[in-house]
Amino acid sequence: MCGIVGYIGQRDAVPLLLDGLSRLEYRGYDSAGIAVFDNGKLSIRKCVGRLTALEDQLQNDPVSGRPGIGHTRWATHGEPSQINSHPHTSDGGHIAVVHNGIIENYHELREALTADGFTFQSDTDTEVIPHLIARELKKGATSIEEAMRLALNQARGAYAIGVTVDTEPEAIYAARLGSPLIIGVGKNENFIASDVPAIINQVSQVIYLNDGEIAKLTQEGISITNLKGESVKPEIKEITIKAEAAEKAGFETFMLKEIHEQPRVLRGLLAKHVIDDKSVSMNDLGLSPDLFHILNRMIIVSCGTAYHAGMYGKLLLEHLTSIAVETDLASEFRYRDPKFGRDTLIIAVSQSGETADTLASIRMAKERGCKVLSICNVPGSSIARESDGVFFTEAGPEIGVASTKAYTAQLMAFALIGIFAARLREEMTQGEAEDLLQSLSAIPDAIHYVVDRKDEIKTIANKHHDGPSSLYLGRKFNFPTALEGALKNKEISYQHAEGYAAGEMKHGPIALINEYLPVICICTKTEDEVYEKMISNMKEVEARHGRIIAIATDGDEGVAGVAEDIIRVPEMRDEFSPLVNVVALQLLAYYAAQARGTDIDKPRNLAKSVTVE
Ligand code: G6P
Repeated sequence: MCGIVGYIGQRDAVPLLLDGLSRLEYRGYDSAGIAVFDNGKLSIRKCVGRLTALEDQLQNDPVSGRPGIGHTRWATHGEPSQINSHPHTSDGGHIAVVHNGIIENYHELREALTADGFTFQSDTDTEVIPHLIARELKKGATSIEEAMRLALNQARGAYAIGVTVDTEPEAIYAARLGSPLIIGVGKNENFIASDVPAIINQVSQVIYLNDGEIAKLTQEGISITNLKGESVKPEIKEITIKAEAAEKAGFETFMLKEIHEQPRVLRGLLAKHVIDDKSVSMNDLGLSPDLFHILNRMIIVSCGTAYHAGMYGKLLLEHLTSIAVETDLASEFRYRDPKFGRDTLIIAVSQSGETADTLASIRMAKERGCKVLSICNVPGSSIARESDGVFFTEAGPEIGVASTKAYTAQLMAFALIGIFAARLREEMTQGEAEDLLQSLSAIPDAIHYVVDRKDEIKTIANKHHDGPSSLYLGRKFNFPTALEGALKNKEISYQHAEGYAAGEMKHGPIALINEYLPVICICTKTEDEVYEKMISNMKEVEARHGRIIAIATDGDEGVAGVAEDIIRVPEMRDEFSPLVNVVALQLLAYYAAQARGTDIDKPRNLAKSVTVE
């Protein structure tokens, strides 16, 4: 949600800000802007639309200078417009601020500032920040840091901010509370950014700013204080991801690249956690394995695609262990009155590690004395840092807004945790564990098989993409797959799509079925009665002339007479089929979106990292 970049050093800030923002556009892309110190004053360029619109503006009305701050926006308060775009200024343009997050008490602050003579230009909550800083400076704050501290102590909500002030062009400032911000440590130059990929080409070291910290960056150094004014020792970390990981590598979109990366990501997780095809190691989880002995209950909390991973996690952990498992949307969990105690492990699933509701759920669980294990893709993220233990999904930067490789990595994480916990609790024999691990090891190749057939999937997508709606049906382990397939389709193709448990179809969605409705049925062969039940559900769709697209096991002819189109996947164990079936649905959504001409990596209204409630 909104991307921030800032630069201080000897180089012209403008190209660096634009490059950084282009790598952060996945966080928000409805408007963009920069503030640069140019000829003794701050020059602002900002406009509604994608970053390309800002680049066009800069062509016509160039600016150069240093230092500078930049922003790409996902609107919360105030529609996307030129006036609401960041940076926002105060004091006649002497102070410029970019912000990610929400200032919840902005209304009362705005009224008080207006009464003090400050004039507001925009509808944003952000604009109170430069005015608060200006007011503190007027009142006698002796430094920008002090003014920021006094200003931020009046603000409630979440923020990551970048600040530049034209009376002090030898520094830029940053602060965070609840929204991510990092400092890129260079040689005679320093950066701020919302995320590592923004500055991965420029620096090899970063400092993860903590909540409640204010940083002053000069060309030569970085100093950090907290909201009490005490100085904090910065902890410098090496960047572990490679710059190429944040590039498209010849693919037409990041999403297509990330779909293709799935076999490699899953192989990496298997290589790291599976020992001699016999057992699962969780050495670097950060939690004592004993915890899995004493657990009675787990609650999985997450949002969006990660929620679907959580649903799968519940089904699989219940299947493999005797632990009772619940799953909930983090945005619901945090506001209900869940009953749980110290014998409950909270598992938070999050690609970005910054999702506000998931983070709030973790904090709620910790207040009740529970241990928290997160399944997370971003080292150094808030969720990773606040959890007691972390299973890193190690999928590399996921830049396409619609999650793909992070999802299958989350499913793999649950499979490995499930086998690990079941063996530890002596609820699974060695032989069963080896069988499961052998099946898991076949998953990367099975995904390859599906990806290799993308042209066939594209043909099917081209045939069915143009209707107003589609229905996705699945059962048991593949019920979450149906929800995820529908979500992918909605997110990137904008075709309304609904995922349903196939057994529930008769209780409502069957009314939608007619000869125009594509019904995507996940019907891979299983060893229990679910397969036959699924075939019966498909027959019910067929009887009402729905257009069935089946995801079916290679060689299985059971679906042949029923489905109009079939996407074939290799034979797999039932439990692990979602890791492969979902890839077929990712590609189906992808090519539907392509046929519908949407912006696949940056679908309208969405943002990858949802750092506000
Ligand atoms: C947003 C993204 C989704 C993601 C969800 C949860 O809605 O667009 O792709 O699944 O947030 O994000 P997280 O980073 O916590 O997995």
